[in-house]
Parts: sequence; C-alpha cells; structure tokens
Amino acid sequence: AITVDPDATGAAIGDTMYGVFFEDINRAADGGLYAELVQNRSFEYSTADNAAYTPLTSWTADGTAEAADDAGRLDDRNRTYLKLAAGSSVTNAGYNTGIRVERGKRYDFSVWARAEAGTTLTIGLKDAAGALAGARQVTAEGGWRKYTATLTATRTSNRGRLSVATTADAALDMVSLFPRDTYKGQPNGLRKDLAEKIAALDPGFVRFPGGCLVNTGSMEDYSEASGYQRKRAYQWKDTVGPVETRATNANFWGYNQSYGLGYYEYFRFAEDIGAMPLPVVPALVTGCGQNRATDDEALLQRHIQDTLDLIEFANGPAGSTWGKVRARMGHPEPFHLTHLAVGNEENLPEAFYARFAKFRAAIEAEYPDITVVSNSGPDDSGTTFDTAWRLNREGGVDLVDEHYYNSPEWFLQNNDRYDSYDRRGPEVFLGEYASQGNAWRNALSEAAYMTGLERNADIVKLASYAPLLANEDYVQWRPDLIWFNNRASWNSANYEVQKLFMNNTGDRVVPSTATTTPAVSGPITGAVGLSTWATSAAYDDVRVTAADGRSLFADDFSGDASRWTHSGAGSWSVQDGQYAQTDETAENTLVTVGDPAWQNYDLHVGATKKAGK
Ligand code: AHR
Repeated sequence: AITVDPDATGAAIGDTMYGVFFEDINRAADGGLYAELVQNRSFEYSTADNAAYTPLTSWTADGTAEAADDAGRLDDRNRTYLKLAAGSSVTNAGYNTGIRVERGKRYDFSVWARAEAGTTLTIGLKDAAGALAGARQVTAEGGWRKYTATLTATRTSNRGRLSVATTADAALDMVSLFPRDTYKGQPNGLRKDLAEKIAALDPGFVRFPGGCLVNTGSMEDYSEASGYQRKRAYQWKDTVGPVETRATNANFWGYNQSYGLGYYEYFRFAEDIGAMPLPVVPALVTGCGQNRATDDEALLQRHIQDTLDLIEFANGPAGSTWGKVRARMGHPEPFHLTHLAVGNEENLPEAFYARFAKFRAAIEAEYPDITVVSNSGPDDSGTTFDTAWRLNREGGVDLVDEHYYNSPEWFLQNNDRYDSYDRRGPEVFLGEYASQGNAWRNALSEAAYMTGLERNADIVKLASYAPLLANEDYVQWRPDLIWFNNRASWNSANYEVQKLFMNNTGDRVVPSTATTTPAVSGPITGAVGLSTWATSAAYDDVRVTAADGRSLFADDFSGDASRWTHSGAGSWSVQDGQYAQTDETAENTLVTVGDPAWQNYDLHVGATKKAGK
C-alpha cells in the first residue's frame, strides 16, 4: 500500500529542476541543430582534425579548384579558402544523403568571394533528377565581399547538391545555404524540428556546450603565437562575432566544429525556450581520459579573465566591452546568466579543485550573485569521487555536478541514492545520466529513478539526461534522447519520460510511504542484451539485423562477432554488415547482443524460404 500525507510539507521542487544537456557530440551542432545545410562551408576541414578530412571534404570540383592558405585569405581566423579557376564549379553534398529542401520553401544562399568586377557566379541547387530551384547569379565587384541570393525549391529532395560556378578566376569562402524557416525565424538560426522537440520538453535549463568537448585538447588560443592550435578546448571567445571570423576547431569527438552555433546562439536559444542558460568552461585540467593539469599560471589567469568576460558578455550593459559585442550581434538586453560550471569530469580531484577555487574566488569577487558549479569527476563512486566531494564540501561549494551512465537495474536499485546525502550541502547538479539504452525498460528505469531525484528535491537541484541529440549517420555515443538525419527527427522512449516530468513538475514533494514489496526488486530477467530467434530449417540466407534497418553491425561491430552470442547448432559470422548464418544447418538459434548499449534496437530476422518448404 502507498500512504500519502497531503498535509505534510515536503521539499520545494524548483522550476529549474529538470533541464537539458546539449553537447556537440554525434554532430549535434553542425549537421544537426545548427540549420546550416552546407558541410565544410569555409574549407577549414583538415587532416589535423580527422585523418579522413581535406579542405575539400564534402565538395567535388568540375574544373580546377584548389584550397589555399595564404595571405590572400578572408580573415586571419578563417585561414583556408578556395581558388576556383575560370569556367570551373564546386558542388557541396551537405550531410547524410545530401541537402534536404522542401518544395515551395525559401533558402538563403551567401558566399564571400573575391573576383574581378564583372565576374559572374552562378548558384545552382540540384539532385540526380535535375534542378531543385531556378539558378541564381551574382556579379562580383572586386575585393572580398559577401554576396547573397534566395532560392525557392521547386521540388522536395533529400539528396540536394549546391553548386557555385564562376566565369573568371575567383576566391570563395563561407559558402552557405540556410532554410529561411529557422526556429523562431532567427538569423544564423536553428533547425526547426529539432529546436521544437527540445522546446516541447519545457526544460528548466540548458547546460552547454559539453561534456568532454569542453576541457579536452589544448588550452591555448587560436593565434600565430600558439601555432594556430587545431585541437583546442572549447573557448567561448572563438564562437562569437561574425561567423566568418570564428576560428573552427577539431573537437574531441573527431570532427570539425564550425562554431556557427556559438555562445550567442546558445544564450539566444535558452532565452527562446524560456530556460536558464548554464555554460561550462574548462578548468585547465583535462578530463575524459586525458589527465593533465596546466601549471602555466598566466594561461590559467587568462582563462579566468575569459570567464569573467563571459559573464560580462551575458549580463553586462550594452556599453561594456563584452556587452557591446552581444549588442552588436543583435541582443542589447542581458541574457540573465545566474549559474556557470567550471570543469567537467576531471580525474585529478586535487589538481581540479585547486584551479576551480581560483576561478570561483575571482567570479565571486566580481559577481557575487553567480552560482559557480563544481564537479565530482568521471565516476559515481570511488576514491576520486570521494576526494572530489570532500574538497567541495570543505570548500563550501554550492552545487556539485555528478555524472553516471548505468544499467536499468542500477537505476532501479539506486532510487534511494540521495536519501542519505548530507543536507548541509553542497547541493547536487545531476548534469549527465542515462540508463544504457533507448528501449522502453531503460526509459521506465529512468522514470523510476527520477521519483527518487524528486523526493530529494531539497538536495538535488538540477538534473539532465545525456546526451541530447544524435545524427544517426555520425554516432559517437548512444543512447541519446532525440535522433535525426537530414530529413527527419524522432524521439526516444527516454524523451517521453523527460517530457512527462518536465511538463508536470510539481511545486512541492508530498511525502509518501510504500509498504508493498516492489514488483521488481532484483535484476530484470533478460534485461541485458537483445535477443531474437532465428530458424533455418526451412530458410536460406538467414540474417539478423536491426528492425529499423540501421546498420549497427557494419558501423559499430566492425566484424567483431565476439560481441554476439548464439545458442544452438550452426555457425554464424558477420557478413556484409549483418550477422548471418553461414552453413544453414542451425535451427531455432537464440541470437543475443550482449552489449547493453544496443538495447534500443529490436532485432529482426530476414530469410528466404527454401524451395519446396
Ligand atoms: O555525454 C557524453 C559524455 O559523457 C560527455 O561528454 C562526458 O561528460 C561524459 O563522459
């Protein structure tokens, strides 16, 4: 029986209790939430970012097109550009299957070009079946200038290609195509379906931009003095101002980041969806397996000053140094930043805390109303975790970020995790958590766990599932809350749980007691691993694949059959990207995926019936 006492006073639940964590992982920004349709628009992709990249990745040339990195460049922070010879053209393939356009909708093209006055640039949008919009022409006027054109799609296609042709030698940079229809019609805006799905959650806060992305790589800036570092920690100043002056970066997740979605756009999005912005800055100690602490005091002080400047960028008057940058970008009013986190999952608690304390002291001296969030390292328990918590407690820190990814059983068994947390503080920001899968049972275990977070709302102040977004063709991490490709997006079961809690957050906990034995008290039978039956007595060519057709075998198991088990006779192996029966003798084989990360997939058996059977 469950006994509820409606008159008893439980903890207040804040409006910001549940939020989202946006990290640029799984191409969540470029090729995702950022609505830009052109991939590698500024020719900055480099083998230094990813062995598979060149400055012409995602481009094909007809005629002569060469990347150049010389004094003729558009901007010192946007160093590579394209030299396109007279009579030549270049074509961009976008993301996934190509550029998605919808019949009747308008698309804003722009390019920075340097060509002799009178040179004609012709802009085309096509797929294999022909034109997707009437071609447009712009006439060059000499030196580097920005040219624009509007294209209206005459057909819908998921396989569009954007091309630029020139009548005379021309230099090109920042070749861009945006849907006119961005979220809330914002310029340099966000993809509408994805932004709407996030907004529909009604999140109380947006934590951004990472994650491991924030504090991995070099802490240096992008300058001649530092050798134009390409693998830098996320530094907010790289990401503001005109997009053609934002220095792209090679991110921790293995791809180039344009920073077209930068700090201004994050703040604007948080404001547009009525959520509290919660940025994370690097603490000069790397996390995510890269355990180094920076001892360069000048570098540390520069990052501390950058963080103070960030607060001025967000909240300062339009006349202040950084408030002016914000105002010039279109937002003279402040963004009302109240919380800021320093660091993410550092594995060196003493080194982290020593530097965190310096950030915190500097921030509190100048901005005493800002809550500075600390963290507890990469684990949910153990020596590193205990040391981090002890240091945070001794230092009187307000809020500590915890992260964990565990099995559904763990979430069911640890509902009481926060019942015993010390009420003297610090309070908890559960910045990242997920049960390892996108299946119903994962979502259910998260829902059960969230009742424990809510029961402890006096100490657990903020919680966000992670990660938020995944482009199905560029996956570094799963499960994820919202999935998409270039033409569609779809919610996970876990999304529905988050939505339910965020849209129905109570004001106050109503204390209750349960005397019933919970139906599930131990591990859920069969919960770990997907399984399906395959039979071959009457069938040829028995193959097991994901029910929705996704290529989980080819992409993610790389022929590693050891991550699969099967019972029964017969021999199986990974063939052509599928788990396939090779000798056709087995009957009633139970095929199981042992990796809990794959619980979101239903397995599907495909086979051809044998003749005469
Ligand atoms: O959410 C994915 C990653 O998980 C984050 O980048 C990191 O903080 C954690 O390890």
